[in-house]
Amino acid sequence: MRIAVLKELADGETRVAATPETVKKFIGLGAEVAIESGAGEKASIADADYSAAGASVGSRADALKGANIILGVQGPDPKGLKGFADGAWLAAGLNPFGERTRIDDYAKLGLEALAMEFMPRITRAQSMDILSSQANLAGYKAVLMAANAYGRAFPMMMTAAGTVSAAKAFVMGVGVAGLQAIATARRLGAQVSATDVRAATKEQILSLGAKPIFVETVAGIEGEGTGGYATEMSDEYKAAQAELVSSHIAKQDIVITTALIPGRPAPRLISDAQLATMRNGSVIVDMAAESGGNVEGSAPGETKKIHGVTVIGAKNIAALMPADTSALFSRNLFNFLSAFWDKEAGKPVLDEEIGNAVRLTQGGKVVNERLLG
Ligand code: NAI
Repeated sequence: MRIAVLKELADGETRVAATPETVKKFIGLGAEVAIESGAGEKASIADADYSAAGASVGSRADALKGANIILGVQGPDPKGLKGFADGAWLAAGLNPFGERTRIDDYAKLGLEALAMEFMPRITRAQSMDILSSQANLAGYKAVLMAANAYGRAFPMMMTAAGTVSAAKAFVMGVGVAGLQAIATARRLGAQVSATDVRAATKEQILSLGAKPIFVETVAGIEGEGTGGYATEMSDEYKAAQAELVSSHIAKQDIVITTALIPGRPAPRLISDAQLATMRNGSVIVDMAAESGGNVEGSAPGETKKIHGVTVIGAKNIAALMPADTSALFSRNLFNFLSAFWDKEAGKPVLDEEIGNAVRLTQGGKVVNERLLG
């Protein structure tokens, strides 16, 4: 069983899909690991570190030669993929809805493409979930980005020259990233409030010492929804939410938006008119900018001043902390493959529940129902 780890070629990508730690563990399972030279460079892992862990290091073609499993952070360009074994697996964050043409190309190449972001939200798959591991650190970093762009301090500070008041931070969308954003803003000394459409998050907000701001007149999503994800809300709910946000947002200095709906554009939570009510110098980090944006006017990878508010459109925040995010991403991949490792066969054999969820292509065809439906 030969596992290839490719250097990420996508613009701005700094992460890598295996670390010396996971290389050693794969070798412990009986696999061979081949790394493309330079794969770990931006995540502060030298080729020599991989060699010391027992991997072979060479060109992209060397790494791919005879590979049974190809690991990536993002899906590699299908054009450069050749030399791998028949029916090889490609396990990475494949962005199945955004990169549909690529998925078709992987099928044509005979690859079995496994989209790690389609991992089901079940207890046993928690340690394999790249969305959680990356969103967690991204939520932390988003608050630091906001703090850096903010022309004032987060904590209340009493100095000989007078008192500086605490920043007011509002987190919209309390999933994995939002919870970490609340915790980080609290640690920095801000007064934090937060909102979500899922009623279950109210308790979580309170337990982190923040104030829940919820629509009370229209019911939100009770229970865990579909696999813990939110759905598009009714027009009535949206109107009530817009009213609530309008009255709250004008008093906020920092807003972190994280709201996502899988397979759909991100919900619009802040309009241009609402931005205009905010104080000059306030900062918004739109973590959903790559999925269409929660904030009107935000653009991924761009920082704009809109009505005196700095609006930062996030783009691949996880890539700003490549050493830690790579370590977690790599463990997610190892946890996934090792959980299904069949010792006798010397390779992983997926079960139906997880296999059918993550498998996009097989036998030359796209087979995933979320892409076919
Ligand atoms: P996400 O990234 O899909 O969305 C972020 C947040 O935005 C969610 O909390 C969602 O409810 C909220 N949101 C969506 N539309 C909104 C709107 N119009 N207004 C305000 N908020 C809105 O979600 P994420 O972070 O991936 O996690 C969602 C849930 O799944 C969490 O409860 C988490 O604990 C759970 N989870 C479970 C896992 C497992 O059991 N293996 C793994 C990962 C997450």
